Amino acid sequence: MSTQPRLWIPGPTHVRPEILQACARPTIGHRGSAMKSLVASIDQRLKPLFGTKQHVLVLTASGSAAWEAAIRCGVQERWAAVTHGAFSERWAATGKECGKQTSVLALEWGRGLDPAAVGRFVKAAGPVEAVAFVENETSTGAYSDVGAIARAVREAAPQALIFVDCVSTLAGAPFQFDEWGIDLALASSQKCLALPPGLAVVALSQRFLDRARSVTGRGYYLDLVRAQEDWSKQQTPATPAVNLFYALDEQLQAFERETLAARFARHRTMAEMVHRWSLERGFPSFVAEEHRSPTTACRSAGKLDTATFVKGLKARGHEISDGYGKLKGQTFRIGHLGDHKPEDLAELLRAADETLRAL
Ligand SMILES: Cc1ncc(COP(=O)(O)O)c(C=O)c1O
Repeated sequence: MSTQPRLWIPGPTHVRPEILQACARPTIGHRGSAMKSLVASIDQRLKPLFGTKQHVLVLTASGSAAWEAAIRCGVQERWAAVTHGAFSERWAATGKECGKQTSVLALEWGRGLDPAAVGRFVKAAGPVEAVAFVENETSTGAYSDVGAIARAVREAAPQALIFVDCVSTLAGAPFQFDEWGIDLALASSQKCLALPPGLAVVALSQRFLDRARSVTGRGYYLDLVRAQEDWSKQQTPATPAVNLFYALDEQLQAFERETLAARFARHRTMAEMVHRWSLERGFPSFVAEEHRSPTTACRSAGKLDTATFVKGLKARGHEISDGYGKLKGQTFRIGHLGDHKPEDLAELLRAADETLRAL
């Protein structure tokens, strides 16, 4: 039906027709009982995905709005952020734009996060209300150990809230919000959740909410205290993207059928397939082996003309990404996330070989 190439960019990713059909159900009023049931169902199913028994909610906004909400609601004056790629840098910049004092540990692009180094930075930064980092830097494919980093932050600054961006990993790799002691985690709908763009999902600790109540200037639309109070009554402060909520609920039910363990194993299998294929063709991982992402491959391109490669592959029905920002031309990225299957990936890699031969 469609002549669109299959999306293998690291978001938005391929959306199954069944999910698009879920979006096409008749829109309902958001103050009625049907909406309350929908919110209750999402609430119950989203919690295991984050690994929490505390609070989750959905924002009708992309992940960047959840970055801003975290800062506006969790930080009155001063916070710290670790940067090692385009998205973590943008989150730090968002804090500055919101008028908060922002201490930054700026690492080279492509570095994974070393828990001990993050701990030393937090200690040296002095009193901060929160520490933020990105689990999977989508611009470089650097994946870090959230549990170990959270432990290091807690030891260095027990009072600091811990914010984690799991935008390009939630539903593609295990996340243990409660066990790791995270205070806020956020993700976007268009990544491993394999939904159309337009929603952000957020998990909040009770500690975050208690702290946020005394923070002034939280605004209205992105006030997580208000959003959580409404969510606990199966409501939202403003009109939500009802049809995307249908899709989210449908997808969360599909995850239960697949099981999360199988979903995570499928992502790992695809990561290994891309890794092997790339190594055999002379494209090493841009990040060190221990930080290689389960969802987003970023490969050093060497002498490959990445623009021509990406274009040639697109003409063969598969869309991948050039390097991000300053890595354009030096790397290429394959987002093997969401609902793609290993057999789909095998097809992509065959088409990639054909494209390479034709260069
Ligand atoms: C790691 C990461 N964080 C945040 C964002 C921003 O999310 P959104 O585009 O949904 O606002 C992205 C987008 O690609 C991302 O990859």
